[in-house]
Amino acid sequence: MKKYTTIYDIDNIPETIQEAILLKENPFAHKALGTNKTLVMLFFNASLRTRLSTEKAAKNLGMDVMILNVNDAWNLEFEEGTIMNLNSSEHVKEAAQVISQYADIIAIRAFPSLEDKEKDTSEWILNSFTKHATVPIVNMESATMHPLQALADAITITELQKKQQPKVVLSWAPHPKALPQAVANSFVKMMQSLNIDFSITHPEGYELDSEITKNVPVYYDQKEALQDADFVYAKNWSSYESYGKVLHQDSNWMLTKDTLKEAKFMHCLPVRRNVVVEDAVLDGENSIVIQQALNRVFSAQIVLKKMLENL
Ligand code: CP
Repeated sequence: MKKYTTIYDIDNIPETIQEAILLKENPFAHKALGTNKTLVMLFFNASLRTRLSTEKAAKNLGMDVMILNVNDAWNLEFEEGTIMNLNSSEHVKEAAQVISQYADIIAIRAFPSLEDKEKDTSEWILNSFTKHATVPIVNMESATMHPLQALADAITITELQKKQQPKVVLSWAPHPKALPQAVANSFVKMMQSLNIDFSITHPEGYELDSEITKNVPVYYDQKEALQDADFVYAKNWSSYESYGKVLHQDSNWMLTKDTLKEAKFMHCLPVRRNVVVEDAVLDGENSIVIQQALNRVFSAQIVLKKMLENL
């Protein structure tokens, strides 16, 4: 694997999921692969799971890890041909090449502004590093995608599914802040790549990018959508059409024991209790959010393993 910026960088998704499940059984089996290799992780934004699970994955493979919170470094410039006489001290052209000399793989987290749709959609930070770095790039959540999360979600569903073709529903849930569409986008793409019965439910105005959802059924009635669901993935996202706006925070969309019934409850975390989902669900036996978070290690580890094999 030469890069992992979207789930489509995986050649065979079902096969990769099975490989990740095997890695989980024997996580240190490939410790020699990463010896004398370094992962540099660049964080433009906060993280708990991505930071720790990706570091753990790299260490399971024998890699060294260096982490830079980018806000602690020089202000980076991304525009080509700009006169750098304001706040930016260093251009990504030099930064990406310099970091590539210290790293065998670079992983990047860079959220969207949620203010400039065109700029966010262009993935200017991730793509600038992909363009100017000389080593493989891993997306640890960019403006529009979170492919490591989606792979962990697919691993979790595969581990727990009892039917050949389970019913999986992605449900919008309320949240007080404007959140990106990245987790939902990557989850939709991943579910389209698996043999499952998949649908989306959200209030009107929260339609995701139609280039991503394609012909996935969308319901504006959450109760109807969740009927007989095996897995329900709750996630808030801000409006894509009215870009970055919180249109409303209708608490009727909060996931409850009543609405979920026997379905397994999924969320990428962090989650706001009794806003996105009620305590009774999160603390109940059908919540699989902790297993999802564990599987973040093995989604990162299978991706890093495939990259190390290709170096
Ligand atoms: N799910 C996820 O990406 O968690 P963090 O933001 O804590 O990394």
